[in-house]
Amino acid sequence: MRKKITVVGAGNVGATVVQRLAEMELGDLVMIDILQGVPQGKGLDLLESGPVCAYDTHVLGTNNYDDTARSDLVVITAGLPRKPGMSRDDLLLTNAKIVREVTANVVAQSPTCILVVVSNPLDAMCAVALKESGFERRRVVGMAGVLDSARFRTFIAQELKVSVENTHAFVLGGHGDTMVPLPRYSTVAGIPITELMSQEQINRLVKRTREGGGEIVQLLGSGSAYYAPAAAVAEMVEAILKDKKKILPCAICLDGEYGISGLFVGVPVKLGERGVEEVIQINLTTEEKSALQRSAKAVQELVDVLKKNSYV
Ligand code: NAI
Ligand code: 2OP
Repeated sequence: MRKKITVVGAGNVGATVVQRLAEMELGDLVMIDILQGVPQGKGLDLLESGPVCAYDTHVLGTNNYDDTARSDLVVITAGLPRKPGMSRDDLLLTNAKIVREVTANVVAQSPTCILVVVSNPLDAMCAVALKESGFERRRVVGMAGVLDSARFRTFIAQELKVSVENTHAFVLGGHGDTMVPLPRYSTVAGIPITELMSQEQINRLVKRTREGGGEIVQLLGSGSAYYAPAAAVAEMVEAILKDKKKILPCAICLDGEYGISGLFVGVPVKLGERGVEEVIQINLTTEEKSALQRSAKAVQELVDVLKKNSYV
C-alpha cells in the first residue's frame, strides 16, 4: 500500500519538501496550511507537474486536518522564519504556540505517525511536539544536523576541489550558533579532513558552517533557506519510509546518551521504519564533549522559557 505523508506549512520549506517527496514517489502527499487557497494552489500545481516529471504521486493541498488522517509520517514546517538580524531563538514563543496547535491537530488524525519537526528554534520545537503528542521519543525527530552537515560538506568540497559525493561530515549539538561541527569525523573519501587541511582552513569552514543559516538570511533579505533544508528533510523521510537504517545526525530527546537527559540535541541516529531506532554514541574528545555540553545548555535555556510558559 502507498504511504501517506502530510506536510504542515505550505511555505518555502513545506512546498519544497512536497516537491522533492513527490518526485521521489515516496508516498501520497497532503500539504496543509492556515492560509486559504495557498496549499490548494501549490498542491494542484505540484500535481500537474507529475506528467512532465514522471511521477504518479497524488498531491492534495488543504486547510482541513480530516484530509491528513492516517498519515504514516508528518513533517512540521509551520511557523515563522527569521528575518535579518533575528536569531532562530527569537521565534521561540510564537512558533511554540503554532507547533503545539499543529501537533495536537495532526496527532488526533494520525495517532501512529512519525513526526519530523523542522520549525525553529528546532530543538525547542521538538520538545513541544514530543510533549503535546505524548509519543515515545523514537517517533519525534528533528531536522537540523543533516542540513548543517550538508553545508559543512559543501564548504569542504569547495576548499579541497573535490566532489561533494566524496565528502562526509558530522555536525552535532543544537541547531544554533553553538552547533558542533566535528572535523575528526568529517572525511573526504574516508580520510579525516584533519589530515587534509590546516587548522586555519578547518576553523574557517567550521565558522562558516555555524553561520550558514544566517548567511542565507542576509542574502535573501526576507525569509530563510529552503532548498537545502527541504533536501535534508527528504533524505530523512526516505530513510524512515524505506526502512533504510541510515545513520544521520538528527535531533532526538536524549536519555542519558552523551551524558544528557530529557533534552533534544543533534546526535548520530539510525533512521528506519520505527523512526529513531538507535542513538549512536561516538567517542568524543574532552574538548568536543564540552562543546556538546555548551550546545545542550543553550537548548536547555530555551526549554526553561518554554517550561515557564507551560509549553513543555
Ligand atoms: P514560510 O513563512 O515560508 O512558511 C511557513 C508557513 O507556515 C506559512 O505558509 C504559514 O502560513 C504556515 N503556518 C503558520 N502558522 C500555521 C499553523 N498554525 N498551521 C499551519 N500552517 C501554519 O517559512 P519557511 O521558510 O517555510 O520556514 C518554516 C519554518 O522552518 C521556520 O520556523 C524556519 O525557521 C524553519 N526552518 C528550519 C530549518 C531547520 O534546519 N530546522 C531550516 C529552514 C527553516
Ligand atoms: C537554517 O539554518 C533557518 O534554521 C534555518 O537555514
